[in-house]
Amino acid sequence: GNRVTCIDISEEKIEMLRRGQAPIYEPGLNEMIARNVRGGRLHFTTEYAEALEDAEYIFICVGTPSGVDGEADLQYVRMAAESVARCMTHPVIVINKSTVPVGTGDWVADIIKRSQPEPIDFAVVSCPEFTREGSALYDFMNPDRVVIGSRSREAAEKVAQLHLPLRARIVMTDLRTAEMIKYASNAFLATKISFVNAIAAVCEAVGADVNDVVLGMGYDKRIGEAFLRPGPGWGGSCFPKDSHALVKIAEDAGYDFGLLKGVIDVNEEQFARVADKIARHAGGDVTGKVVAVWGLTFKARTDDLRDSPSIEIVSRLLARGAIVRAYDPAVEPGTTDQRLAGIEVVGDPYQAVEGAEVLAVLTEWDEFKWLDFDKVAEGMAARRVVDARNLLDRTGLARRGFEYEGI
Ligand code: UGA
Repeated sequence: GNRVTCIDISEEKIEMLRRGQAPIYEPGLNEMIARNVRGGRLHFTTEYAEALEDAEYIFICVGTPSGVDGEADLQYVRMAAESVARCMTHPVIVINKSTVPVGTGDWVADIIKRSQPEPIDFAVVSCPEFTREGSALYDFMNPDRVVIGSRSREAAEKVAQLHLPLRARIVMTDLRTAEMIKYASNAFLATKISFVNAIAAVCEAVGADVNDVVLGMGYDKRIGEAFLRPGPGWGGSCFPKDSHALVKIAEDAGYDFGLLKGVIDVNEEQFARVADKIARHAGGDVTGKVVAVWGLTFKARTDDLRDSPSIEIVSRLLARGAIVRAYDPAVEPGTTDQRLAGIEVVGDPYQAVEGAEVLAVLTEWDEFKWLDFDKVAEGMAARRVVDARNLLDRTGLARRGFEYEGI
C-alpha cells in the first residue's frame, strides 16, 4: 500500500521500467511492476527532485562492486547520498540497503550534512537486504529477519513500522553492527559451501559419498541442511565480492581473517578441481577436443553471469585448448558479453553435445534433468558426463552406457 518512486540515473532502464519491463531477469518481477503501476503506487524517474518531493523514506540500493584491493567501491553510494542531500526539501530517513563496509552509514551521514545547501534534519538507517537472485520476491516477502541499525531510535522505529506487514523478526541494533551482520551472513554462507566442497574432496579421496554426508549432517538442527549443496564452487555478484571485502575490512582493522581467506582459497581450488575432472574424462589432454557445457549462469533461475563458477571452469578448459560449446536457457546465442569470449554458445542442449568428448553440467537448471538422454548419447563422440551439481539421474545414465561422475 505504500507509494514508491524508483530513481535510476540510466534513462534506458527507467524507460524499460515505465513500459513494465524489469531490466533484470527475476521471476515474478514484471508482473509485480505491472500490478503496482496499474494501481498507481509505483513510479519511475531519473529526477531526484521529483522522487524526493514528498518522500518520507529514501532507500539507497546502488551497486558496491569490488575495488582494486577487494574493498567495496563506494562511488555510487557517494553519488546517491550527494544527490539526496542536494534535493531534499523536508526531513527524511535515508535507509541504506547496499552492502557497504562497516562505518559507511556514518560516512553517508557526513556526506549528506556537507552537501546540503541548507541544514535539514535527517537520519541514516542501515537495513541490509538478504534476498537471493531468482527468489528475490519470495525472500523479500518472507524474510527470516529484518535488520535495522541506526543512531536514531525514532528513525529505527519508523523503519521497523514500515516492515511490520512482513511479520518478520526484527533485529534492532546500531549502524555498524547492522552493516557487519550483512557481511558476516554472506561470509558464513560461503563458508558452509566451501566447507562442504572441501569435505567432498576428502570424500572422493577416501571413497565416501558427500551427498549422504550432507544428509547426515544436515538433520542436526545445529548444522541445518541449507547451503550445504556441494557444487562447482560459489559465485555470483555477492559472495565473491563480499568475502573479499570482509577480508579487507578485517585487515584494515588489524585482524588477519585467515579462516575466510581459506574459504576463498577452497573455492578457487574447487574451480580447478572441477576443470581437472572434466579434462580427465576427456582423456587428459583436451587440446582440440569438444567439451559440451550445460549452464553458464552462476546458478539456476537467473541470467546473471557475474563471477559465475561455470565461466571460471570453462576459462580453465579454454586455456588448455578445449573447444567449449555451451547451452544455457538464460543465455542467447550471439550474446556479445565479454565474459563469454571464446565460448561457442548455442540455443539447444542437444546441439551443445554434438561431437563432444564429455558433457559438463555446471548450473543446476531443472530442465536439464528432463532431457532425452538417448538423444544426448547419440550426438556425443563419447558417453561421458561430469555433473558438478549432482543434478542428473546417475542410474538412468549408467543404463544408457554413460560414464558418470558427480561431486
Ligand atoms: C546471496 C545470499 O544468499 C543472499 O542472502 C544475499 O542477499 C545476496 O547474496 C546478496 O548479498 O545480495 P545470491 O548471490 O543471489 O544470494 O545467490 P545464492 O543463492 O546465495 O548462491 C550463491 C552461490 O552459491 C551460487 O554460485 C550457488 O550456486 C552457490 N551455492 C549455494 C552452492 O554451491 N551450494 C549451496 O548449497 C548454495
